[in-house]
This record gives sequence, structure tokens and C-alpha cells, in this order.
Amino acid sequence: MSTSQHAAVQATFADAGLIDPSPAADDRADAVPAPGRMGPTGRPVRARREPAPLTDHGPARVIALCNQKGGVGKTTSTINLGASLAGFGRRVLLVDFDPQGALSVGLGVSTHQLDRTVYNLLLDTGTAPDDIILKTNVAGLDLLPSNIELSGAEVHLVNEVAREQTLQRVLRPVMDDYDFVLIDCQPSLGLLTINALTAAHGVIVPLECEYFSLRGVALLIDTIDKVRQRLNPDLELEGILATMYDARTLHGREVLSRVVEAFGDRVYDTVINRTVRFPETTVAGEPITTWAPSSAGAVAYRNLAKEVLSR
Ligand SMILES: Nc1ncnc2c1ncn2[C@@H]1O[C@H](COP(=O)(O)OP(=O)(O)O)[C@@H](O)[C@H]1O
Ligand SMILES: [Mg+2]
Repeated sequence: MSTSQHAAVQATFADAGLIDPSPAADDRADAVPAPGRMGPTGRPVRARREPAPLTDHGPARVIALCNQKGGVGKTTSTINLGASLAGFGRRVLLVDFDPQGALSVGLGVSTHQLDRTVYNLLLDTGTAPDDIILKTNVAGLDLLPSNIELSGAEVHLVNEVAREQTLQRVLRPVMDDYDFVLIDCQPSLGLLTINALTAAHGVIVPLECEYFSLRGVALLIDTIDKVRQRLNPDLELEGILATMYDARTLHGREVLSRVVEAFGDRVYDTVINRTVRFPETTVAGEPITTWAPSSAGAVAYRNLAKEVLSR
């Protein structure tokens, strides 16, 4: 996005009263904790080295971003973790597995104009991933887009043989082309999400630092356990990502400490602060890492990518 487009989007948000036109509060230098200091999770912040470049690519590690609660940062985290991993030279495929198509829209795709999507890949034999994969504006970052048609997939999948393994099966031809496949799940624990968990090696659970965030997590963990027992013995809980954190409120700090109490080391050191810059990027149709590369949000997702690469 050009500087003038950037300014135009900023102005629109300022007009709507959505942002303070002065520099964003999250751009304060202390918004991202520095190594040596205490981080928001109550652990000292570890310095992480830049990931080493890769000479070979694949096979992909498949990670599902999953939480049946909506609005917790699944899509935002899929886009920005993906873009950050691509920034470190990894080949990344993002799978939009939510009929709302927010992941596709967030990467600038007009979803209503797509003639083929993930839906066709799941249900039409003869459709291959390469027929559907789109390049994004970020080098090394590809997208399997979806749109509202995907909402009809569950009823059709029910009649398929090995219905839970459908996504895993259709992704197989491209597994060697990528280092990471990130699946943006829909806010439910239905058959599409079970397909994502069956195709995945790991699950990242974004958790909003809000009072009700832990509600429903027991059910999610239970579902992950069931999928591990019955369908995918290799499935791991990759990590818990605290999102929409506001260090200025006691409430935010209390919720985060409860999350750390509940999940210990599974909680990433990286915590994503609440900032209006993320909704801005949705309008801009690009990741925060390219829209505002030096913002605290971009730095945070790059740190998350380093953690994912080091686990
Ligand atoms: N860290 C954040 N701070 C403020 N707003 C955020 C943050 N992360 C995401 N958002 C916004 O919150 C809304 C929901 O986020 P999204 O990633 O779409 O959640 P989900 O995919 O879990 O429904 C979007 O409008 C998004 O721009
Ligand atoms: Mg979403």
C-alpha cells in the first residue's frame, strides 16, 4: 500500500472516531517488552535470534488456529503469523477455512468474485490445490481462499467416505511445497474444524484477554484430545496465544495471569496488545507486517513467528 492510500485509510478511521489521529498508543517503545525485562506473562523476556534461512523447503508443518469463540484473533493471527514466517524466508500456505472469508478479505481478495474456492477442493474430485491457490502480495505467502459457499460444505461432507480426513487428503499434493500450512478455523467445533484438527500437526489457540475467554476452552481442549485419540495421534497443542491484551487495565493483567496459571509453558511469551491498527489492516487488505512494519503489532507477530520456529 502506498503512503497516500495509507493516509486515506487513516483519515477514514479518524473521521469515524475510530482512531486518535496522533501516533497510535501501541507505538510506544514499551509496548513490546525488551529482552531482560519482565514480560506480560510474568516470565522474563528471552532474546530470540533471527531464524536461520532455509535452503530446502517442505514438508510442511500444519498448524490450525482454532477457538470456537468468534472475534478472538484467529484470522488476524493467521495472516500476521503467516506473513511473519514468510518474512523469515519460509514458504507459507494460508487456508481460509471459515465461510465468512475474513482471511481472504484481509489479504485483499474479493471473495464474491472467486469461481473456485476451498469448497471445490473439498468436494469436487478433479480439483487440485494448484487450481485454487492464489499468490498474495507478500513474497512466499500463498492463500487457499474461501467464501460463503463453504457454509454448505459440512452437509455434503457428512456423506463422504473418511469425511474427517478430507482436508488432510486434498492438501497432500502440496505438502512438499511449503514449510508451513496455517488453517484459519471457523468459530465452531463442527465438521470443518474437525477436518482442520485432523489435518494438523499442531493447534494454536488464540485467547482474548477478557473475562469470558476461558469459558469454552475446556470443551476445545476436550475436542483436541478426542481428535488425537480417534483420528490424529500426532496432534499437539502447539501453544496458547494471548490476544487483545491491555496492560493498562487490572482486568487484562488478571485474565492473562489466569491463562498462564491454567496453561503454563504452553502460553507464548509473545502477547498481542489490543490496538486499532489491526482493524485498520483489514480495511487495507494486507498484514500489519507490511502495512505498518515497525508498529508494535508487527513486532509482536514477528516475535511469535520466532517462537513458533523455535518450538
Ligand atoms: N490485537 C487486536 N487488537 C484490536 N483488535 C483486534 C486485534 N486482533 C484482532 N482485532 C480485531 O478484532 C476483530 C476480530 O478479530 P479476528 O482476527 O477476525 O478474530 P476471529 O478470527 O477469531 O473471529 C477484527 O475486527 C480484528 O481486526
Ligand atoms: Mg476469523
